[in-house]
Amino acid sequence: MAFFSSTLFFNLHLFLTIFLSFSGTDPVSGCYNSIFSFGDSLTDTGNWLYINSSSNIGNFPYGETFFHHPTGRSSDGRVVVDFIAQAFGLPFLPPYRACSDGRDLRHGANFAVAGATAIDAASYEEKKIGGVVANISLVDQIEWFKGLLPSLCLSSSGCRKFLRGSLFLVGEIGGNDYAQLFSNGWSLEKIQTFVPQVVSTITSAVDTLIEHGAMTLVVPGGLPLGCFASVLTFGASLNKEDYDNETGCLKRWNELLQYHNDRLQIELDRMRNLHPHVIIIYADYYNSAMRIYRSPLQFGFSKGALSACCGSGGPYNYNSSVLCGTHEARICNDPSLYWNWDGSHPTEGGHRMIADDVISGPYAFPPITCPCLQLASHVKYPHYHTKSQSFRASV
Ligand SMILES: *[C@@H]1O[C@H](CO)[C@@H](O)[C@H](O)[C@H]1NC(C)=O
Ligand SMILES: *[C@@H]1O[C@H](CO)[C@@H](O)[C@H](O)[C@H]1NC(C)=O
Ligand SMILES: *[C@@H]1O[C@H](CO)[C@@H](O)[C@H](O)[C@H]1NC(C)=O
Ligand SMILES: *[C@@H]1O[C@H](CO)[C@@H](O)[C@H](O)[C@H]1NC(C)=O
Repeated sequence: MAFFSSTLFFNLHLFLTIFLSFSGTDPVSGCYNSIFSFGDSLTDTGNWLYINSSSNIGNFPYGETFFHHPTGRSSDGRVVVDFIAQAFGLPFLPPYRACSDGRDLRHGANFAVAGATAIDAASYEEKKIGGVVANISLVDQIEWFKGLLPSLCLSSSGCRKFLRGSLFLVGEIGGNDYAQLFSNGWSLEKIQTFVPQVVSTITSAVDTLIEHGAMTLVVPGGLPLGCFASVLTFGASLNKEDYDNETGCLKRWNELLQYHNDRLQIELDRMRNLHPHVIIIYADYYNSAMRIYRSPLQFGFSKGALSACCGSGGPYNYNSSVLCGTHEARICNDPSLYWNWDGSHPTEGGHRMIADDVISGPYAFPPITCPCLQLASHVKYPHYHTKSQSFRASV
């Protein structure tokens, strides 16, 4: 959307004052000594497959495009965090749970688990909400991180020094919370009332990381779930009004995620005020993806952005009883022509688009490569607005 982009660039030029504190020849590699990431299947690089070796993501064609074998990524190749690691000259992050083989974690670790929720399983059990996929939450992932720390740095001051040079990716997470509530029969209106709880779980994870010495954090918003083949299939409606006529996405689902993202940005502003010395970057996965959904052909996704590459038929090539990676599912000839990989996740090409948008901008403020530099203390963060009306967040 042209309006959105020009507003953002205006903000960038008006408010972003940077002082170079970095004197290397390559402005990108050397920024960070390590990356620590948290989240769900958009970020997982092998934890869930290690925990559940019979998951469908452990089968061909997962991984076929880049690694040429399944790795536990919910993609045909790399995911956003892989592209971020490459951009900073760091190795691919080892999945934390699969590290019993003594792999070197000094360049960081990935705690994300496919199927993970923000809110912990015990809280859901209390509310009599079942159908937990992974039974692992963001809260658990933060505990794993705390448990790992003593092996990385010996003293509290040593840890702060080490973590000062680390980049933290906290999310995306929350999509599984909403999907789970929906599968428990909650209406979208009722799910909306739960958004603040999901968001505050994310910001308290951010708070804990800052307490332990994190200085640069990237917190992504949620993707437009109403555009996913899986949601378009289980949320199918006979009422044309329920679909966005520009993209074909389900409006109410996208409004839910817009509301989540608005709330998240408001909470991140609060964190920035509390910790002015810490750089907290909001990564706008939502609008990065919406740009593709509005004109997939322009970005090379000639088979469109809605239908899955790997699936088993139906209007969006998605059927929850015949998932990609099971033997009845079929795989498209060329995943690079699709945005959607398996119904619920982007292809490597989709991940790459999002990664580029947050690494170099404009869908992250400041772009992730910037904090290698130092931000002026009066920097003003923009809000990434959405068109949401019915779920307008009050500021
Ligand atoms: C592991 O994955 C398989 C296949 O998706 C599933 O049927 C099974 O319930 C999972 N096990 C656990 C413990 O989650
Ligand atoms: C989730 O895991 C905890 C222990 O880690 C266990 O007590 C609980 O019963 C599990 N819940 C589900 C729904 O599997
Ligand atoms: C799309 O829907 C909006 C209202 O939701 C309407 O104003 C517009 O004319 C529609 N465009 C097309 C091409 O149908
Ligand atoms: C999904 O797959 C199952 C098993 O093959 C089949 O019985 C069902 O009709 C399919 N559903 C749709 C909507 O195609």
